[in-house]
Amino acid sequence: MSRGNITSGTHEPLGKRYRERMEKAVLSLDNEDFDLPVTVGSEGETGIDIRKLRAVSGAVTFDPGYGNTGSCESAITFIDGEKGILRYRGYSIEELASYSSFVEVCFLLIHGKLPTEVELDVMKHNLTHHSLLHEDMKKFFEGYPPSAHPMSVLSAMVSSLAAYYPDSEDPADLDLNIIRLIAKLKTVAAFSYKKSIGHPYVYPRNELTYAEDFLQMMFAVPAEEYRVPTLLAETLDVLLILHADHEQNCSTSTVRMVGSSGADLFASISAGIGALSGPLHGKANQEVIQMLERIQADGGNHRKYIEKAKDKDDTFRLMGFGHRVYKNFDPRARVIKKTADRVLNELGIKDPLLEVAKHLESAALEDEYFIERKLYPNVDFYSGILYRAMGIPTDMFTVMFAMGRMPGWIAQWVEMRNDPTNRIHRPRQLYTGPTERSYTPIAERS
Ligand code: CMC
Repeated sequence: MSRGNITSGTHEPLGKRYRERMEKAVLSLDNEDFDLPVTVGSEGETGIDIRKLRAVSGAVTFDPGYGNTGSCESAITFIDGEKGILRYRGYSIEELASYSSFVEVCFLLIHGKLPTEVELDVMKHNLTHHSLLHEDMKKFFEGYPPSAHPMSVLSAMVSSLAAYYPDSEDPADLDLNIIRLIAKLKTVAAFSYKKSIGHPYVYPRNELTYAEDFLQMMFAVPAEEYRVPTLLAETLDVLLILHADHEQNCSTSTVRMVGSSGADLFASISAGIGALSGPLHGKANQEVIQMLERIQADGGNHRKYIEKAKDKDDTFRLMGFGHRVYKNFDPRARVIKKTADRVLNELGIKDPLLEVAKHLESAALEDEYFIERKLYPNVDFYSGILYRAMGIPTDMFTVMFAMGRMPGWIAQWVEMRNDPTNRIHRPRQLYTGPTERSYTPIAERS
């Protein structure tokens, strides 16, 4: 590659420039005041630096779910949840979705700048020429039952890549493993689908773009020629861009946490895939479609489900609604909704679930419960409708999310590794169990 190593740690130390303007916060605890330094990010967010808090005061902070905890400094993705802003390396998601490509966004997230023409060509070349899987890995797929969820297969296969491409001290090897991971992920994803339906695996083709190649590996069969519909490839590219990073969400924090122990890239990202597979995170896209199908099968009575979602004695939640960070709208959902309308129209698809989704959305947005709690459709609400229109089966939706999120996980993992302030992630707790007691011999226990 024509640039320096991604992993050599030549970036300016994070946040250094902003420390100059630091002020302090004062914590008063048990009649004693403690000065705490304040760090300000490049978009003005303020962080109270509590790294020395326990050493000076004996206390820790208590923040289950980490809703108020900044776990790192990061120069990758900026979100303003109140204003509905999402930017990768300073570029708005709307501009990137309109003008960029997924491979360019991969370069941007990992290298911190948009590529030159030559750099982009190198990246495209590398991503196509590393997309084959080691033939032995095909045997792994054969061991899974056809009913295996493709996210379990994906996580296991990514973890297994470490056995073929071990960690090394040489930054050039890590750079190559990064390329391998992005390149091979689409092959793993498509092979897991082929295995589940009993079709022969279709190999990657170097003349195709990233999105085209994935679609041909999913949908081509040896019996006939398959041409990738341009509209589907373009739509997939936009979906991958929209999912490419989202700062310190559950799966990304998992990737960083696992990586903070020094675990290799594949192990860290395999753990991230596990985190993404949960219904409150990436699997929400699959759950949205299952919820819409349930509402449709129940006569399309969306109001009944709004009431269920509001009922505190009912565990039902409106999947695809709400977000920890967005309290106005999710900018990704806006782009996806517009794209879904256009693509379904161009494909001439009338998906009754889209109608159910629209009714549900407008009813929820007028309901006091959802207004008060600032619950809006998130990225997963309409993405499933698009994947369905593209012929992607429902249990592959979260795999699509993982494919998009890969460059973000990698960029965050590399940033963590290069950050000289990084320490093993090891939160504290507030112990609420029994205080010390004596061991009771079994004969004396009741
Ligand atoms: N349906 C009904 N009520 C909800 C929902 C929902 N989808 N989401 C939040 N609430 C309520 C919740 O019950 C709580 O009410 P109260 O204050 O009366 O106790 C309030 O809103 C705050 O919710 P929370 O659970 O404390 O919020 P959180 O930030 O911990 O959770 C969330 C965020 C996304 C997990 C949650 O909104 C949710 O479960 N949504 C449905 C699942 C979903 O769509 N997940 C995809 C997220 S976007 C893609 C991604 O990044 O993974």
